[in-house]
Amino acid sequence: MRFCLMVICKLICHVITWPLTLVRVTGVYRRLFPALAYNITFSYNEKMHHTKRDLFRSVTKFANPDGTLRLLEIGCGSGANFRFYPYGCTVVCTDPNPHFQKYLRRSMDANAHLTYGDFLVVAAEDMPAVDDESVDVVVCTLVLCSVRDVRTVLQEVRRILRPGGAFYFLEHVVSDPSTWTYFFQHVLERLWFFLGDGCVITRATWKDLQAAGFSDIHLKHIEAHDVTFLIRPHIMGYAIK
Ligand SMILES: C[S@@+](CC[C@H](N)C(=O)[O-])C[C@H]1O[C@@H](n2cnc3c(N)ncnc32)[C@H](O)[C@@H]1O
Repeated sequence: MRFCLMVICKLICHVITWPLTLVRVTGVYRRLFPALAYNITFSYNEKMHHTKRDLFRSVTKFANPDGTLRLLEIGCGSGANFRFYPYGCTVVCTDPNPHFQKYLRRSMDANAHLTYGDFLVVAAEDMPAVDDESVDVVVCTLVLCSVRDVRTVLQEVRRILRPGGAFYFLEHVVSDPSTWTYFFQHVLERLWFFLGDGCVITRATWKDLQAAGFSDIHLKHIEAHDVTFLIRPHIMGYAIK
């Protein structure tokens, strides 16, 4: 019964939000989204401060014997994670949306404890400018929900990581099917897709991570209690190549 109701409500929501498809096609929202994301980042970071601090605490384990650490962030957005990275590490930023650059620059200026490489305007599915096995750590937060092809991204991550390097992730995921969160995630999926510039709230991303061929995965399911209920279920952790 609940499943039928969910499908009907989902269809209605699809119809109502259809005009937003036209807005998306024009690319206007893509220009506006970075400003929105930049402002939301402050409250998300505040609510998730302890989680992010715990997540990135172990990044230094993957530094080289001389203390250097080369970190590449995919879908870096406005640079919300810089403050959690260890002193002295070199950060290469990538994002397919060039309009984030202005906000990224602000985060770079505010985090002078890091060294910054190029900002590469690329999708994480294909990063030809990054050599095989050339980075110690890859990070992505709130990105695998928005990429076109999660599996291809994970293969690309494995390609660029050095053996023994780590992939850090913090991602919202689909809820348990028995919950009302799952129900509303499916009903409002399309609306959220437009508001979040391509963000899909119904992905079971942990399955792709587990199937990606990493040698070891440290993965936890958590509830991000203070954030909007639609994106409350998260996964966090790191996978070792
Ligand atoms: C919700 S924002 C998160 C930004 C940042 N990682 C953070 O935690 O604040 C999603 C980001 O994923 C980026 N993105 C979308 N598709 C992508 C793709 N195929 N490859 C890499 N990044 C992508 C977007 O441009 C955007 O910067």
